[in-house]
Amino acid sequence: MANPSLLILAGDGIGPEVMDQVKRVIAWFGDKRDLSFDVSEDLVGGAAYDAHGTPLHDDTMARALEVDAVLLGAVGGPKYDDLDFSVKPERGLLRLRKEMDLFSNLRPAQCFDALADFSSLKKDIVAGLDIMIVRELTSGVYFGEPRGIFEEGNERVGINTQRYTEGEIDRVARSAFELARRRSSKVCSMEKANVMESGILWREVVQKVRDADYPDIELSHMYADNGAMQLVRAPKQFDVILTDNLFGDILSDCAAMLTGSLGMLPSASLGAPTGDGPPRALYEPVHGSAPDIAGQGKANPIACILSFAMALRYSFDQGEEATRVETAIEKVLADGARTADLMGEDGGTPVTTTQMGDAILAALDQSL
Ligand code: NAD
Ligand code: IPM
Ligand code: MN
Repeated sequence: MANPSLLILAGDGIGPEVMDQVKRVIAWFGDKRDLSFDVSEDLVGGAAYDAHGTPLHDDTMARALEVDAVLLGAVGGPKYDDLDFSVKPERGLLRLRKEMDLFSNLRPAQCFDALADFSSLKKDIVAGLDIMIVRELTSGVYFGEPRGIFEEGNERVGINTQRYTEGEIDRVARSAFELARRRSSKVCSMEKANVMESGILWREVVQKVRDADYPDIELSHMYADNGAMQLVRAPKQFDVILTDNLFGDILSDCAAMLTGSLGMLPSASLGAPTGDGPPRALYEPVHGSAPDIAGQGKANPIACILSFAMALRYSFDQGEEATRVETAIEKVLADGARTADLMGEDGGTPVTTTQMGDAILAALDQSL
């Protein structure tokens, strides 16, 4: 049988730095676990703009639709701030999500024991935390029409439209309920039904799907602003959080700090289940290109490596190997390896991105 295919789009800033460590982990699986991938690489974001004048070449888009999974690093950076909106690096990522129809974005926030002390919250609030945010990814205010900057009288007006169809809400709700069944069967859905019609529809449809097909799921609803507060007050009350595109973006960065660093949060963006194979999928860290630390060997590669672990689990049916990667990372952290983002001002000497990769590979070797 042919090896599963992976398209790597490392992108900009720290994207290529953290992806270099993922490539080492992929190679390790080929060498040590007889689990080889057919890996190809291409450009996305500012790197693609520099080469082709577009943040995602049509050929790259076509390739992304063919492979078994895409791994992405990060896009964007100050160099591209003044570009026309239509060719900004972020547009490349949004096009991938939209054209691959990756409507369900899983963003787990797990606090590793070794980092419980490091979170900006008190240890007992975050120790043992393991929650999953399911973010709708291909609709809502990110894509709704009308949108743009228009002349209105003697001033300009900026418009974006929050728009959700029943079908779009229905399918992401189902993906959250399916996932919840494999966890603790508890879902909290977040919107602002108190001020937004799209929120009213969201709440209605989510409840209807639950009542019709998932009566075993314990479903609650919460306004998203309260949800943000509850996430930092008592995050362990949640298991699966289901929310829309924009609220999910914000709530997941917020959840990142429960784990100690944005450099720890992976994600999986999944399309509809297919009959015989895995869904279309793109895996990427939740963080961006981190221009403030790019090129300095300071980036934490763990979010990107954990994203590859999610690929093993969700695209390649290799749950045990995914756990092997997660356990190796847990061990490395327990042994005290810390990139700079996982240290306070007086925390000692941080390891570099490559040294963190070295330590994870050594822990993988020890797992054999
Ligand atoms: P960011 O996530 O890049 O950085 C926020 C802060 O977190 C910075 O201080 C950064 O140094 C730190 N950080 C992030 N990842 C880290 C890691 N792995 N290790 C250590 N520290 C890390 O967000 P930003 O600064 O708001 O955005 C920078 C650029 O990235 C923008 O162009 C933005 O649009 C883009 N962005 C891209 C993605 C993506 O590609 N998926 C996600 C978010 C932001
Ligand atoms: C994320 C990012 C993206 C988003 C940007 C870069 C398009 O912030 O993946 O969280 O807003 O979805
Ligand atoms: Mn974000």
